[in-house]
Amino acid sequence: MGTPPFSEFLSQSQQRVDRQLETLLPIVSGPASQLFAAIRYSIFNGGKRVRPVLAYAAAHAFGNINQDTDRVAAAVELIHAYSLIHDDLPAMDDDDLRRGKPTCHIAFDEATAILAGDALQSLAFTQLTELKSVPPQTVIQSIATLAKAAGVEGMVAGQAIDIASVNGTLTIEQLEHMHRQKTGAMIIASIIMGALSSGQASEQQLMALTSYGDAIGLAFQVQDDILDVIGNTSMLGKQQGADQAMNKPTYTSLLGLEGAKEKAMQLHQDAIDAISHFDQHADHLRAIADYIINRDY
Ligand code: IPE
Ligand code: IPE
Ligand code: MG
Ligand code: MG
Ligand code: MG
Repeated sequence: MGTPPFSEFLSQSQQRVDRQLETLLPIVSGPASQLFAAIRYSIFNGGKRVRPVLAYAAAHAFGNINQDTDRVAAAVELIHAYSLIHDDLPAMDDDDLRRGKPTCHIAFDEATAILAGDALQSLAFTQLTELKSVPPQTVIQSIATLAKAAGVEGMVAGQAIDIASVNGTLTIEQLEHMHRQKTGAMIIASIIMGALSSGQASEQQLMALTSYGDAIGLAFQVQDDILDVIGNTSMLGKQQGADQAMNKPTYTSLLGLEGAKEKAMQLHQDAIDAISHFDQHADHLRAIADYIINRDY
């Protein structure tokens, strides 16, 4: 497997995961058609597919992208889409714009949005039970990796801290802990599961990828916080200034804009250093690190 330019790899990966998601989520009529419509609305609405792209890039680092990589890529996007539907609910961030369109609970209703999120979460795990080319212990390892990252040791715990800290203050260490859980954990899991799908990753390589993922995962949320301040609503597809309006502790509120930008640069360097032992097949991972701190949406 050669290494195509990153822009090509990005669009190929986005198309691959979209094909997988499309087969998983057909248009369904009947009594639950509202639920299926809300699910499709929330999946096929222009997400950047960062987590699937990371899974593909990690598999590519081992020279083996395969159909199991498609399955893990779909699984991480399904969890991500669920997390965003619930994140936007009135009880949480109360946002009405996502990916340039009304959020799920606005386009449908709150009950449908809650259920769509629930359904997407289960479907993610169903996908992982269908891994075919890896040995059974790797299937279990993948399921455990996703469960841990999505749940009470990962994203959900981070979201709980986020909600509890509205109008409050966090130390920088507490803020980093929150970011690592709410965003970083799923980013690391995407990379690890992509690497596992290749069937060729050693423990040591998984550890290096975890360090890489830890750095870019944190950088991703730092940049998300920066964009909440300097981004533009139409580019972002979500309301600029939403964190400030909710009085959320963020990187920019704690360190200032310049401090947050410096932090992102430092994390970028940490990520590059962590994978220095990988050959040019890992160049897409390096390009993603650049993309994460330079993105403007
Ligand atoms: C937004 O994630 C939520 C965070 C974890 C910061 P993305 O910026 O990946 O959102 P989409 O999927 O591209 O819309
Ligand atoms: C959401 O973080 C992280 C999730 C786990 C969903 P944010 O609340 O900062 O995400 P946006 O800014 O609404 O996309
Ligand atoms: Mg939130
Ligand atoms: Mg939010
Ligand atoms: Mg945000």
